[in-house]
Amino acid sequence: QVLILDFGSQYTQLIARRVRELNIYCEIHPFNHPPKELENFKAVILSGSPNSVRGENVLHPDVSEIRGKKPLLAVCYGAQYLAHFSGGKVAPSNTREYGRANLSFVKNDEMFFQNISEGSQVWMSHSDTIKELPTNGVLLASTKDVENAAYKIAGEDTFAIQFHPEVYHTKDGKQLLANFLVDIAKVAQTWTPDSFVESTVAAIKEKVGTDKVVLGLSGGVDSTVAAVLLHKAIGKNLYCIFVNNGLLRKNEFESVLKQYEGMGLNVKGVDASKRFLDKLAGISDPEGKRKAIGGTFIDVFDDEAHHIQDVKWLAQGTIYPDVIESVSVNGGPSATIKSHHNVGGLPDYMKLQIVEPLRMIFKDEVRRVGASLGIDPELLGRHPFPGPGLGIRILGDVTAEKVRILQEVDAIFVNGLKEDGLYDKVWQAGAMLLPVNSVGVMGDERTYEKVVALRAVESTDGMTADWVDLPYKFLQKISNKIINQVKGVNRVVYDISSKPPATIEWE
Ligand code: XMP
Repeated sequence: QVLILDFGSQYTQLIARRVRELNIYCEIHPFNHPPKELENFKAVILSGSPNSVRGENVLHPDVSEIRGKKPLLAVCYGAQYLAHFSGGKVAPSNTREYGRANLSFVKNDEMFFQNISEGSQVWMSHSDTIKELPTNGVLLASTKDVENAAYKIAGEDTFAIQFHPEVYHTKDGKQLLANFLVDIAKVAQTWTPDSFVESTVAAIKEKVGTDKVVLGLSGGVDSTVAAVLLHKAIGKNLYCIFVNNGLLRKNEFESVLKQYEGMGLNVKGVDASKRFLDKLAGISDPEGKRKAIGGTFIDVFDDEAHHIQDVKWLAQGTIYPDVIESVSVNGGPSATIKSHHNVGGLPDYMKLQIVEPLRMIFKDEVRRVGASLGIDPELLGRHPFPGPGLGIRILGDVTAEKVRILQEVDAIFVNGLKEDGLYDKVWQAGAMLLPVNSVGVMGDERTYEKVVALRAVESTDGMTADWVDLPYKFLQKISNKIINQVKGVNRVVYDISSKPPATIEWE
């Protein structure tokens, strides 16, 4: 397996993703907490960073056990770090070194650059640049503005590049990673969902032993896959709690609960709808609503968890994008756009240790792992649904009546997508209840009722998204159905905004 030492770059997870696409398992560890057992790692990658090697906040990894002993690929900050502290020189760059550039090989390293042509497009993103190579540095490639774009250290399997091989716009990035990992480092391409299940189940057994674990199921793919993995590892010691926050889709609580029981999971369904709605009464601010929902969830969950004697662990279905988008809460580099309630929200008094088997994998990988666990494809193919549920799709304050209206609208839309074979072509779909009334006419009567917005997006990870060009005929049919069947709605609009600059949810 491969070790990625993280210096806080937004792209670190993408490095992991590209490596996994090569069927190679990798782990990301903070640069200052590398794993103790290095012998399991066949190669090491140093990530980029928002920091500078020249500033006060220079991040000093200890690479003495790695460099010269294992194949090492240093990316961006990593490359600058190797240069700056090993006899080279790093300085602020005079020209902007962001975006597209083209490689020109200086000394063509046959293995490192095999199957990559002269002029290949790479993506740069740095404000410092390497002015002088480190001791024993051998220049491999330049671009128009960056002389030392790629170098190696003579006599070592150490390679350094200032561009980012992990981003989509570096056209041969994956090939370059394959060259380094497969041909130079001789890492086997054996990581598959099956092997992930096997190693994760073994790791859970080792970590949790015979302790009891409690897990909150949400009906979504992530918590379900996490539960099945844990169940495979510890069986009856896994206690699942499925809370109805009153903000789920129509009939979802009952139907999903049944499905879980059919899967052999030990699940307790808790209907706390009223408690949530009472807490939400009169709150209109989006972050206020998220906090109320998140806080109530913890209270309800805590009450239930106390009924399980000697429970020691809390399992969560947190996946990698949740972790990344929430980093800034801890003073990290990425900005908080919305506070996702399923990350890091536990009060200290719960004193439970956390186990998060999916913390390092991406949504598409979660689905593949779920398939390898034999989970129903229909459940795995479900669209993502936010933890705060319809609470953040009802703009403004939330009432039982508004929930009812939105559940009806959402069900017509989502069932319509399924009936017309469109559901699987869309990454996420749902409806928003807007806090405005508009005038309409039904029969001879004037109406003054609510507007709903339908939203359907395509995406791979929710980080960026585009609206889906659903057939007009379909939208026409759904709009008619909604207005005719849902009392309180007289107008339907379709959201045609991409993310960015909009977000997927409206709050
Ligand atoms: P946004 O609205 O930020 O959403 O573009 C990106 C993805 O995240 C989901 N989402 C959430 N999921 N808790 C969750 O578990 C939350 O608080 C939350 N907010 C947004 C959203 O549905 C989309 O898939």
